[in-house]
Amino acid sequence: MLNKKVADLLNEQINKELYSAYLYLDMNNYFDKRGLNGFANWYMIQAQEERDHAMLIYKYLQNNDCPIVLNAIAKPDKKFKKDMDVLKAGLEHEEYVTASIHTIYDAAYKVKDFRTMQFLDWFVKEQGEEETNARDMITKMELFGADQRSLYLLNQELAARTYNAPSLVLD
Ligand code: FEO
Repeated sequence: MLNKKVADLLNEQINKELYSAYLYLDMNNYFDKRGLNGFANWYMIQAQEERDHAMLIYKYLQNNDCPIVLNAIAKPDKKFKKDMDVLKAGLEHEEYVTASIHTIYDAAYKVKDFRTMQFLDWFVKEQGEEETNARDMITKMELFGADQRSLYLLNQELAARTYNAPSLVLD
């Protein structure tokens, strides 16, 4: 069994990751309606990855004989008026998730829960990559988004993103 506070935070994180998947589905839907299938593809894969994150934490709690609490997932309520609103909301959300992962890490560190710290190392790295990706999207959009031909090419670039299962595997 894990420390109760650590286990509670991990349970909450399952919900946050599933909410992330919901949020990215909403973003996928925005771009699908816009006719930008590459952007839509990018956010669909993002949603799949978030579900993977939730399932990794779910499995970790199961493997450690911790109770799992599945709470209601909040409705994504962001209103997107333009493409950049979506991109910026994505970065803002990833920064929020990074802070949340760090809070769990800190709780594990305080009780010398080295197993959870090692488990979370993967998430710390993953969050760094997700923030970088979200910032890169914003930079590219700032550079090329206003020009229709460039936006078309950027959309094609994002259409090439493929889903990869997480490198972290729990038995
Ligand atoms: Fe799983 Fe992007 O946070």
